[in-house]
This record gives sequence, C-alpha cells and structure tokens, in this order.
Amino acid sequence: MTDNSTMHHVTASDARAYIERVLLGNGVPKDNAIIVAKCLVEADLRGVDTHGMNRIPSYMARIREGVLDPKASPTLRRITPAVAQVDGHNGFGFLAAHMGMAAAIDMAKEIGIGMASVKHSNHFGMAAWVVQQALDAGMMSLVFTNSSPALPVWGGKSKLMGTSPIACGAPAGKSGRPFIMDMAPSVAARGKIYKALRRGEKIPEDWALDKDGNRTDDPAKALEGVLLPMGGPKGSAIAIMMDVFSGVLSGSAFAGHVTNPYDPSKPADAGHFLVTIKPDLFMSVDDFKERMDYLYHRVVGSDKMSGIDRIYFPGEIEDLHKEKRLKDGIPLVDAEIEALNKEATRVGAASLTTSLPPLKSHL
Ligand SMILES: NC(=O)c1ccc[n+]([C@@H]2O[C@H](COP(=O)([O-])OP(=O)(O)OC[C@H]3O[C@@H](n4cnc5c(N)ncnc54)[C@H](O)[C@@H]3O)[C@@H](O)[C@H]2O)c1
Repeated sequence: MTDNSTMHHVTASDARAYIERVLLGNGVPKDNAIIVAKCLVEADLRGVDTHGMNRIPSYMARIREGVLDPKASPTLRRITPAVAQVDGHNGFGFLAAHMGMAAAIDMAKEIGIGMASVKHSNHFGMAAWVVQQALDAGMMSLVFTNSSPALPVWGGKSKLMGTSPIACGAPAGKSGRPFIMDMAPSVAARGKIYKALRRGEKIPEDWALDKDGNRTDDPAKALEGVLLPMGGPKGSAIAIMMDVFSGVLSGSAFAGHVTNPYDPSKPADAGHFLVTIKPDLFMSVDDFKERMDYLYHRVVGSDKMSGIDRIYFPGEIEDLHKEKRLKDGIPLVDAEIEALNKEATRVGAASLTTSLPPLKSHL
C-alpha cells in the first residue's frame, strides 16, 4: 500500500533533470524542455506544489492525446515599439509566456514599458515565475492569464470563468524581499483541491460547492462542482478582467471556452497578457528601491492583530519556502513519486532521484 505519511525530498537540480528527461522522451526539444523544467521547479521551490512537477502526468496526457504539441515553439511579432504578440502554436504555455515576457523586458529596457499579448497558448502553471523573470531583469510587471471554467460569475451557479491568477511584481530594496503578488480570484486555487485529492485530505468547507450546490469538504465532490470566488462579486469581476485582457484582447479562447488542463479532449487555447515597466522612469533606481524598502518595513512592521506572530509582504512566504527548499529539497509523498516515475517509465527515462532521506512528516 502507498504510504503517504512519508515525505521524500528531491533537490531542485534532480527535479529539473527528471522533468527534462521526461519532456525529451515525449518529443520536446532540449532548449524548450530546459525552460519548462525551470518554471515548474520554481513553483515547487516556492511551495506552490499544486503547480510544480506534479503537473507532469497531466501535461504528458495532453501530449499523448494530441491536444498539446510537444514540438511547438512560440513565434513573436512586434506590433509597435512597445507591443509584441506571441503565438504559442499550442505548445507549452511556459514557452509562450517566457518568450512574451523576454520581449516585454527588452521593450521596457528601450522605451520604459513593454507589453506582450499571447494567444493559442496553454496552462503556464504558477504565474510568479513570469513575475520572477521580470524581477531578474530589474523590472516591475503585470502578469495575467485566462483559464478554463471553474468559477460561476457572481449570481450564477455554473462554471464560466477561470481561476485565472492575477500577478504582479516590483523589485526589492535592501530587505531583499520583492513584491510578488500571485493569486487566483477563487477562495483557493483548483490545484489545491487536486493536491488534497492526491494526498487523501479534506478541504475547508468555504472553498467549493458540490454539483448540487452544497458546501463540501470532499475534494472529489468539489471537483464535480464549482469553486467559490473570493469576495463574491469582486472576485468574479477580477476573473472577468483576466478574460478581457488575456482572452478577448489576444484572439485566444474566452468566455468559458478555454479547455481544462486535465481535459485531454481538445487544445486549451489559453491567452496571457504581460506588461513590464522600468522602475526608474520617474526617479533613480536607488530612490525607487529605498521607497520599496520603506514600504516593506511599514507593512511587516504593522501592529499585529491578536493571534498573529508575524506579518509578511506579498510573496515573502513563498520566498522563505524557496530558501528552505533549496537547502532541504522539495517534499513529495509516495503517491506523487509513483505518478512521476510512471511517466519516466513510459518513455524509458531514468526515475526521479530522491537523493535526500525520507522524513516522517505531519502532512
Ligand atoms: N495558470 C493558471 O491557470 C492558474 C490558475 C489558478 C492558480 N494558479 C496558481 O496557483 C497558485 C496559488 O494561487 P492562490 O490564489 O491559491 O495563492 P495563495 O492564496 O497561496 O497566495 C496569494 C497571494 O497572497 C500572498 N499571501 C498568502 N498568504 C499570505 C500571508 N499570510 N501574508 C501575506 N501575504 C500572503 C501570497 O504571497 C500570494 O501573493 C498561484 O501561483 C497561481 O499562479 C495558476
């Protein structure tokens, strides 16, 4: 029997090497496999386990069903000095978003701001890796995507909008903590429900309704029903905003027509919207960073409500996960390792190396 109370730990480089092997075995060109592996493992490192290497089985299923093209590389067209359009050609969303963000960064370096609209793409996982790509170039960013129906709009009862994350970032001051906001407009991301299902756990009752419209703590029933938007009409409006900017504007699917990454019946046709801004447009970069530092300390130094030990800056909890996981490795339970190794076996690739000793864990 699978023992899901034992945590194995995998180093980031072993995780990337495993993903690259499986992708190569499925026909993904080497350079593209390196980008996808880096983006997925960034999610694992940041503690966003729902959007990391555990997605490999569902992505490989899409390749096998012929609805995601493993060999496709995105193409870029410059529209104006500040605007580019990327066509993902139904390849990995990671590649299309990576190309769009690289172009937006180049444009922002030249003229202060850059925007890339991405069409015919796929799920790009955790939005924060795109924000991090901009941060690595010293840039502020906005990162939007649309996604498959999971949420009712406010007042509705059937899924129509996605749990499309809204993300943005700004470089850090001396604190070393950049601003990284990355959030789905649902009470919880759907990936968290899949993770609970994989791990045999219950979910909080305010996350989702079952197919009959009742609150449920059973992840399987929640996946048959709908997720609840955060803040009622406000979360619903943000989900629609993601669709306007990522779907309507780009020429990709929209209005409930993006395909779920776990549905291998047809291409996803997701769209993304990426904006990059140079932080020293109105002052020196040092002044900007000093102001970010002041903001950081004002935020984390706020008076705490009762029961709270520490106040975090957006993205800080995930940064702390990354620091720990770079040292201790990425935790995975047996069932997750088995599912990953099944993908390696299918293409004759070596299994995932769990080079760090298993620990008994309180999951
Ligand atoms: N590609 C897609 O279609 C898709 C769809 C849904 C979600 N996702 C991804 O799922 C991930 C999880 O989304 P989520 O909405 O569940 O995120 P979350 O609720 O875990 O975090 C949302 C934001 O709140 C901040 N935060 C969380 N707890 C905090 C605290 N105690 N103090 C201060 N800040 C705090 C985080 O840093 C983050 O910026 C994201 O990475 C998102 O990109 C992707």
